[in-house]
Amino acid sequence: MSKHTLFVCKSCHRSSEEPAEGQSCDGSILLDTLNALSAQQFTAEDLEIRPVGCLWACSRGCVVALANPEKRTYLLVDLPTDEEHASALLQLTQMYMNHRKGAFIWDKLPKQLESAMFACIPSSLSSSLDEDSEED
Ligand code: FES
Repeated sequence: MSKHTLFVCKSCHRSSEEPAEGQSCDGSILLDTLNALSAQQFTAEDLEIRPVGCLWACSRGCVVALANPEKRTYLLVDLPTDEEHASALLQLTQMYMNHRKGAFIWDKLPKQLESAMFACIPSSLSSSLDEDSEED
């Protein structure tokens, strides 16, 4: 299985106001929190947390995408930067990694992320989400 990647937009800012000079964007804060927490949970061979400049959902920050070439890709939006949400995101990442097609059992999703799930894109190796059913 190829490596899993959590793309994190480092440019997102949840406030409508620009960050003050010298202040980090919320996306960078979330990225730092995820990096700190993931070091206790994942090896670099299992998961890469990759900062990106933009994931094209700028009005819905913070935005991340969970991806693997052999699995569906998920886009999550409206993420706060706190440790509770970062932990929930890593819990979701573990669930994603554990399922061979990256499917989730919706009842078991971390509660903090239920409203954050925004888009699901089929694996480039399958022709539809139906082929990626959760039961497989
Ligand atoms: S600035 Fe984060 S998605 Fe564009």
